[in-house]
Amino acid sequence: MQNQPMFTYDPAMTDMIFEYCRERLAMDPVALDFGGVVPDLEEALEGLLSDNGTDPAVVLDRFATHLATAVVSVDSPRFLAFIPAAPTKASLLFDMVVSASSLNGTSWLEAAGAIAAENQVLSFLARAAGLPEGAGGCFVSGGSMGNLSALVVARDRARRRNPELAGKRLRFLVSEEAHSSVASAFRIIDVDAVLVPTEDHRLTASNVAAVLEADDDPSSIVAIVATAGTTNAGIVDDLEGIGEIARRTGRWFHVDAAYGGAAMLSSSRSHLFAGLASVDSFIVDPHKWLFAPFDCAALLYREPAEARASHTQNASYLDVIHDAPDEWNPTDYAIHLTRRARGLAMWFSLCVNGIAAYRTAIDAGISMAEEAARLIEAHPAVELVRPPGLSVVLFRRPGWAEGDYASWSTRLLNDQIGFVTPTRWEGEMVARFAFLHPETDAEIVTEILDTMR
Ligand SMILES: Cc1ncc(COP(=O)(O)O)c(C=O)c1O
Repeated sequence: MQNQPMFTYDPAMTDMIFEYCRERLAMDPVALDFGGVVPDLEEALEGLLSDNGTDPAVVLDRFATHLATAVVSVDSPRFLAFIPAAPTKASLLFDMVVSASSLNGTSWLEAAGAIAAENQVLSFLARAAGLPEGAGGCFVSGGSMGNLSALVVARDRARRRNPELAGKRLRFLVSEEAHSSVASAFRIIDVDAVLVPTEDHRLTASNVAAVLEADDDPSSIVAIVATAGTTNAGIVDDLEGIGEIARRTGRWFHVDAAYGGAAMLSSSRSHLFAGLASVDSFIVDPHKWLFAPFDCAALLYREPAEARASHTQNASYLDVIHDAPDEWNPTDYAIHLTRRARGLAMWFSLCVNGIAAYRTAIDAGISMAEEAARLIEAHPAVELVRPPGLSVVLFRRPGWAEGDYASWSTRLLNDQIGFVTPTRWEGEMVARFAFLHPETDAEIVTEILDTMR
């Protein structure tokens, strides 16, 4: 047999990579990075890709020095833009195990052990949401993929159940505050949005009832999509009220809890999520506020058989994975076939840290948002836009024009003080903090606010 070096264990390269990972894991705090001058990335990549390979020490050094530093560290406690991340050390370590073992989680036939562990986490999330025994799903790459996969099932069930709608366009009721991925999913699955006005940015049962009553053709509205934790402001829709309407009228009820869903485990906000018990499907992203590494979203269905009817891929070479009807094949629950066993990182971390540690870490984000609101109210330079619902805080700097927010945001990053990006609220440009890293503290927030004087 010919020697194939690239498949042969290389102790030196292994040590080098493990040492890099060790150093990255030990960083405390994680540096924000990517401030100041954007490096010449073409130059950094120059010469690395060649016919005969480059010394791994050279490639790793180029990565560590020029490329990794040209990425803002989402897991820095100073990263407060968009939706940050704060993967636990245990989840990061176990993600290395998933990679080193090439763990897939496609079918029970291939990967029962990995899937059983992933399903333990999914069951935990389903129970926390109040879903009945039998609920299930799979982990997908992110909230966008989760929303899309769930809404495909909603559309297909409506077509199956309502033959009288054949030839008609289907419509899905949704609030104007829904995440951009929902609009994108509607486009892909070719359904129309019925946009419901909200009360103070929150979708309520009365908003939904009013729109349904006033509609000329309500039977073509086959699904309702609510949000549990809007991205812009952390607002949780009236899940209980909306869910009751969906159940009573036979419409599919999907909840996008990609960001906010973690707060169902919190000590102070869990009541807002009681309505999750009535969903047909929901998503919550462990790579957001459940402290898992990218990329990981949990997708759950009340009746998984509905999802199988949409997502099972049929081919003669796949028959073998469907021979035993009781076996759980994650591939059957979303738009994917081969998939990384990405739920295992959270599984390991949840097992070793315990559920209570998760509750405490989620509570920390909510408390930090409350404290930031107090700091903003007490600060002479800024104003609170609204009290935070979950862990997002909106605030303004009176007297600033739009360009001032943009240049301040750039300066903050350049100075490595924070990554905070502006957003728009009721037409006005404002600043936005998203908290979820348990190590973000009042000192960091005050330091950032002081730059707005
Ligand atoms: C409410 C909500 N839904 C969906 C998404 C999309 O998730 P992803 O970026 O993982 O695709 C996000 C992302 O921030 C979100 O906040």
